[in-house]
Amino acid sequence: MTVLPEAPDALVRDLTDEEARAALVCKWGLVAPDVLPAWVAEMDYALAEPIVGALQRAVAQGRTGYPAFVEGGPLGEAYAGFAQRRFGHAVDPERVIATVDVTAGVRLALDVVVPPGPLVLPVPAYRPQLALAGICGRERRDLLVDPAAERAELDLDALEAHFAAGARVLLLTQPHNPWGRVFTRAELEAVRDVVTRHGGWVVSDEIHAPLTLDGRPHVPYLSLEGTAEHAVAVVAASKAFNVAGLRCAQLVAADAGIAERLVRTEMARNDSWSVLGVEASIAAYAEGDAWLDALRHRLAAMRDLFVAELARELPQARMRPLEATYLAWVDLRAYGHDDPAARALDVGRLRVNAGHDFHPGLAGHVRVNLATSAERVREIVRRLALALR
Ligand SMILES: Cc1ncc(COP(=O)(O)O)c(C=O)c1O
Repeated sequence: MTVLPEAPDALVRDLTDEEARAALVCKWGLVAPDVLPAWVAEMDYALAEPIVGALQRAVAQGRTGYPAFVEGGPLGEAYAGFAQRRFGHAVDPERVIATVDVTAGVRLALDVVVPPGPLVLPVPAYRPQLALAGICGRERRDLLVDPAAERAELDLDALEAHFAAGARVLLLTQPHNPWGRVFTRAELEAVRDVVTRHGGWVVSDEIHAPLTLDGRPHVPYLSLEGTAEHAVAVVAASKAFNVAGLRCAQLVAADAGIAERLVRTEMARNDSWSVLGVEASIAAYAEGDAWLDALRHRLAAMRDLFVAELARELPQARMRPLEATYLAWVDLRAYGHDDPAARALDVGRLRVNAGHDFHPGLAGHVRVNLATSAERVREIVRRLALALR
């Protein structure tokens, strides 16, 4: 049994079932009362104190109108401070542009910055990303990760071939969901070199950047030399601080012309972020370091516990090393069920995400959300084993 240390993750408080049902109306509210939810990417932890304080102050002041429709500002300053402290990345606060969420930010970047042409998408991918190319009037070219590969890596030869055949842009997700990978500087530089050779573009979804585990560094794509003129990053405090419902993400540009195009777009394309989302994001970026460090410690402990329980209960399960996020990508093909998520729900009363939602046609995989208590992590494995053995 994994013994959890009292510190430094004492700042992270587990929600009781009752609290979680009240707080997380999607994750906990959309399942039957006897189902344990381990699906959508929300965490069963109480909000960080600085965020609670900022929201309470804003509500007490009646700050519930429109946000200030400006680039940069206190949000830009807060994100730039966070990027400098956490990633060693110098961001110009004036080139931080609010948007409603990361998915919308990616769409905006594709629509107003990147020239027309096919989009390369590494697959498996976060499910809504599969639809993005079509929504933005582009063809999608998949960059498949072989489910049998030892390590999930971007296939640079295939990427090169896609760009040579006319692709214009790569939608990079780093750290990756659902692979759980943190890309190294060398890997990212190799991607940059392919993209530059073909005059291509990168939209870098870095929503999971604060959630690297075991002290792994996150390397922002825009921190690499020679990327400013061909890339936009989309970031948010929403995943790491559990505030997705407050609707605020940020586009980051390193080039003045690109920032200008994002800022000067028609209001109808980008006016939906919320003032409470801005307040929460500023609090997270400016005052959330201690909570975030405690969270990463906790998530690493939950991952280790899950790995240990899985090895005992379902020894033929193959889990990709989780280097970031709290979303485990697990290959259960050895247990012979095409759709283990459906079986987990029917038999185990456990809701996890089906692998085929991330990789159409892929059988036998699930994505499991580990951002919960140690007791529930054990219960997740117990129910999964009940369903599959
Ligand atoms: C890679 C990735 N991008 C985007 C999102 C969704 O972000 P948003 O709700 O801000 O669109 C998620 C959610 O888990 C994600 O994993």
